Amino acid sequence: MNNQASYRVIQWATGGVGRAAIEGVLAHPQLELVGCWVHSADKAGKDVGELIGGEPVGVVATDDKDAILALDADCVLYAPLLPDPAEVELLLRSGKNVVTPVGWFYPVPGEDRLAAAARESGVTLHGTGIDPGGITELVPLVLSSLTAQVEHVRAEEFSDIRTYNAPDVVRHIMLFGGTPEAAMSGPMIGLLTGGFTQCLRMLLDGLGFPADAEIRTDQAVAVATQPLDTPIGVIEPGQVAAQRFAWEAVVGGEVVARLAVNWLMGEEHLDPAWEFGPEGERYEIEITGDPSTFTTIRGFQPPTPEEGWIRNPGIVATANHVVNSVPYVCDAEPGHLSYLDLPLISGRAHPRFAR
Ligand SMILES: NC(=O)c1ccc[n+]([C@@H]2O[C@H](COP(=O)([O-])OP(=O)(O)OC[C@H]3O[C@@H](n4cnc5c(N)ncnc54)[C@H](OP(=O)(O)O)[C@@H]3O)[C@@H](O)[C@H]2O)c1
Repeated sequence: MNNQASYRVIQWATGGVGRAAIEGVLAHPQLELVGCWVHSADKAGKDVGELIGGEPVGVVATDDKDAILALDADCVLYAPLLPDPAEVELLLRSGKNVVTPVGWFYPVPGEDRLAAAARESGVTLHGTGIDPGGITELVPLVLSSLTAQVEHVRAEEFSDIRTYNAPDVVRHIMLFGGTPEAAMSGPMIGLLTGGFTQCLRMLLDGLGFPADAEIRTDQAVAVATQPLDTPIGVIEPGQVAAQRFAWEAVVGGEVVARLAVNWLMGEEHLDPAWEFGPEGERYEIEITGDPSTFTTIRGFQPPTPEEGWIRNPGIVATANHVVNSVPYVCDAEPGHLSYLDLPLISGRAHPRFAR
């Protein structure tokens, strides 16, 4: 990678990830923010610095997609609420690389029309983040290089969902506070499975497990046993107050990999009585082989729900992974590329250590 090159960047959507990505771009020595698309009409026309609660930066947000497509830029950081493949295709065909935390972590055979769009336009599409898109496959793959004869890999998140500053998403899409039946038949498992299955496949391919491994999906809920006062309002007894989603890869009847997320509205008054235990909120990565390793990662969960609502480190980490990927993605061969294709991506030293 050329450490001297600079890259013109557009931010697409300014939710939690988008705002953190703008901060990340402004702090990155090789990146220049040149545009910003917003979904909310009341944000259009405002300086992007104002949208992140800072000083003006001289870039005005727009809700005009054509204006963004016409802009001269190297890369779009695509972070809307839900992915729109047609939108991403337009961005790629306008000659811009796209880095995103909303999907496209690993190409799905036979389904990847965006790979063709990227190749034909001479640009690259890359999906990245934290979970999925970091702790689910990149970090386990890196750790696995210290182990021989890998038999099983597990990457699991244990988080307090009260820290996630997206109440509408938590109530109306994740269906916390609803009935167990609604949550079990709701959209979440489908929304999550696309990305998590891609990450599981990347893990299996990287480790050399058979490509035809069976993928199993599992979902479970815990309900409140007394009224819970939460950021999405009161969750009444019998309503959903915790959810677990898991994806397992099975080869010859043996589970060889498991990805799971455990999201709890606190640790009290749940049935079943799920809790984080003395380890607290964390990410775990367990590799079984020679030698077996067990890694706990902390720091991506805020100390309190209130702090998470102001600035959630997991959201910031997701944005940082997107931002730090930009130079590598812009310099890469065209196509839809995953961690298995790209070089090692790293952060950048604090500006006070600038060379
Ligand atoms: N891979 C990972 O590890 C990871 C981690 C966290 C999040 N994510 C994903 O990243 C994306 C952004 O997350 P977030 O936490 O920033 O979400 P968020 O805070 O809910 O923000 C999403 C933004 O999308 C825009 N938006 C809202 N409704 C929309 C609609 N109907 N159509 C298009 N855009 C709409 C809004 O942008 P404006 O405010 O600019 O109008 C909103 O602020 C989500 O898809 C999330 O699932 C991935």
